[in-house]
Amino acid sequence: MEDGCDPDREQESPASGKQKESDRLKRIRHKIVIGSGKGGTGKSTISANLAVSLKRRGYTVGILDADITGPDIPKLLGIEDKRLTASSEGIEPADANGVRVVSMALLLESRDSAVVWRGPMKMAALKQFVFDVNWSDLDFLIVDLPPGTSDEPISVVQLLSGMDGAIVVTTPQDVALLDTRKAVNMFLMMNVRVLGIIENMSGFRCPNCGTVVNIFSRGGGERAAREIGVDFLGSLPLDPRIASMSDMGRAFVENSDAGEAFEKIVDRLLEKLSEKSSA
Ligand SMILES: Nc1ncnc2c1ncn2[C@@H]1O[C@H](COP(=O)(O)OP(=O)(O)O)[C@@H](O)[C@H]1O
Ligand SMILES: [Mg+2]
Repeated sequence: MEDGCDPDREQESPASGKQKESDRLKRIRHKIVIGSGKGGTGKSTISANLAVSLKRRGYTVGILDADITGPDIPKLLGIEDKRLTASSEGIEPADANGVRVVSMALLLESRDSAVVWRGPMKMAALKQFVFDVNWSDLDFLIVDLPPGTSDEPISVVQLLSGMDGAIVVTTPQDVALLDTRKAVNMFLMMNVRVLGIIENMSGFRCPNCGTVVNIFSRGGGERAAREIGVDFLGSLPLDPRIASMSDMGRAFVENSDAGEAFEKIVDRLLEKLSEKSSA
């Protein structure tokens, strides 16, 4: 068969397939996964803005949306109408102002289509996303993991070789922090370095009077990081501008006021990565 579906694809010799896979991954300098103990902590928002911030600093960046059932990255980057294409080199990522994006949402018929796949189907899709994408050379691949500590995030982490480490995103409530400890332990049990914890939705600054209201208690992320013995990368306030820019498909790091706290987090992350490479 000349083009389209290749029935021999699955029968490719395991050795040559593996070689191709690892060659692709070797062209990526830094791979960072973003995880959380539960959904709704802001993992996708942070993944998307980390990618855009790194791009704005001059790096080549890709983002792999590994959340198959809740793929939000295209919406956050304003490219919901784009679709992934295939070339002789594999799956071609979609472009979001220079950030290369792969997501299940870029394969679905419409934005409301639901992925109601069971585990093995999801695994097959994730394998293709990890091994069959033509990322070319990348400085950073940011991987937005499915939430929690179930089979799915574990499988993605196992598929990705040579990772720099994981960032765990938490909100300040006690239950979120409890789940965060579990997420950190999951990475450590899998021998993945935890680059640090980010506390999101940490206090709310009223846009009218400027008063900071601690809707949830504050500083728990930092305390948890200290207790577990991992770094704290910083905190991000609950900010209506972050929510509205995300809804509009724009990265909040493009707004210097809303993005200020986040850029400090990115500075800290880059410092941490350079410590490792000079060690
Ligand atoms: N710091 C923040 N301030 C305001 N809204 C936020 C903030 N972080 C995330 N959100 C909003 O919270 C919701 C959940 O965030 P999301 O990144 O989708 O979480 P997750 O990927 O962990 O499920 C989104 O509507 C997002 O816009
Ligand atoms: Mg998400």
